[in-house]
Amino acid sequence: MPTIVILGAQWGDEGKGKIVDVLAEGADLTVRYAGGANAGHTIVAGGTKYVLHLIPSGVLHKRGRALIAGGTVVDVSALCTEIDTLSTLGVDLSPKRLGVAAEAHIITPYHILLDKLSGGAIGTTGRGIGPCYAEKARRTGLRAGDFATGRYREVLEAQEAYYSKVLPALYGDVELPSLKSVLAQFEALRTLIVPYLKDVPALLASAVANGEHVLFEGAQGAELDLDYGSYPFVTSSTTSAAGALSGTGVFCNLDARLGVVKAYATRVGNGPFPTELVGAAAEHLRTKGGEYGATTGRPRRVGWLDLPLLKKAHRTSGFTGLAVTKLDILSGEGPIQVCVNYTENGRPVLRELEGFEGDLATVKSWDGLPKAARTYLEFIEREMNVPVALLSTGAERSEIISHNKLPW
Ligand code: IMP
Repeated sequence: MPTIVILGAQWGDEGKGKIVDVLAEGADLTVRYAGGANAGHTIVAGGTKYVLHLIPSGVLHKRGRALIAGGTVVDVSALCTEIDTLSTLGVDLSPKRLGVAAEAHIITPYHILLDKLSGGAIGTTGRGIGPCYAEKARRTGLRAGDFATGRYREVLEAQEAYYSKVLPALYGDVELPSLKSVLAQFEALRTLIVPYLKDVPALLASAVANGEHVLFEGAQGAELDLDYGSYPFVTSSTTSAAGALSGTGVFCNLDARLGVVKAYATRVGNGPFPTELVGAAAEHLRTKGGEYGATTGRPRRVGWLDLPLLKKAHRTSGFTGLAVTKLDILSGEGPIQVCVNYTENGRPVLRELEGFEGDLATVKSWDGLPKAARTYLEFIEREMNVPVALLSTGAERSEIISHNKLPW
């Protein structure tokens, strides 16, 4: 069975959660390998809306296990809340079904505080992601496995000693949580997390060796990649296909690399956005598309599809297929603009394509789509030289059209 990685091809929020959910129906294992609870994957199934932040979206199907791998950063308190919320909705999240890698780094209150104090220029989600990855790189991080050994206490003590000097020096009058309260909080979290600790690389390697159907669930998007995104306006992890290998600690073939592309573009946080719309046009698209962050509720910036950026994402991750989402939102919007190039001073060169009308959510086949909608999709396929494998035409799990041969 294939190994499939599902990746955001833009700035995140492309609708990866729904695509993972659709593909997870027959999967044995779904793995999150990068990022943390900065992600917000929204899935609507049977009229119920689920928002997942760290737990792989595959868990909504009864079959299949889920792993949170070592390349992620875990806010244990947020993870426990997510487990509780999903369990209330009837999702089985017992330790038999969900595992967390001992290598995953743990977000501490100091990271969240530092992110809130320093993340404004980039417009981070404030979830402590960057400071936790920075801690990892300083070799002073707390890892999930430290809960099992009891080492977490000394790591937290060292972090408190460091941040109680650094934060007031940098930011003035900063109130840090007391070490006593942090230790008490983590003592309580320890009992919750320890049953979930697993040897994730070993489990994943054996699943791959046994030919199981494995999905790697990407988070954020290509332009938020720490190395190859729009630095410094990026997240702190590898969001490309390569992250699926470094983030899990297992080398394997990634049989299919599915790039998820929203039919237009959105971005939350600061940084360049060449095709950005402003004013009433932006407000209209934002409202129609429900473009508000699933994690922070922030209004997303909106704009037209940017093909040069998609091509760059393809160069980094080698897409074997595309999943186009939210095409329904462009219906009835008149002519569609697509960025096909940039001028010398970086302005987008736009190509106008015919718009289309009608309720796409009721369309069940590619051939049933309005002709201009097909022309738009075929234009993307031709420019990218990658087939569109899936087309999402609405929020519900069922509102999806398979096209071409799926890339595996
Ligand atoms: P951080 O990941 O919280 O450090 O935020 C860094 C940048 O990535 C900010 O511009 C965030 O808005 C953006 N970002 C992080 N996670 C997501 C996501 O899941 N979707 C969209 N943008 C994100």
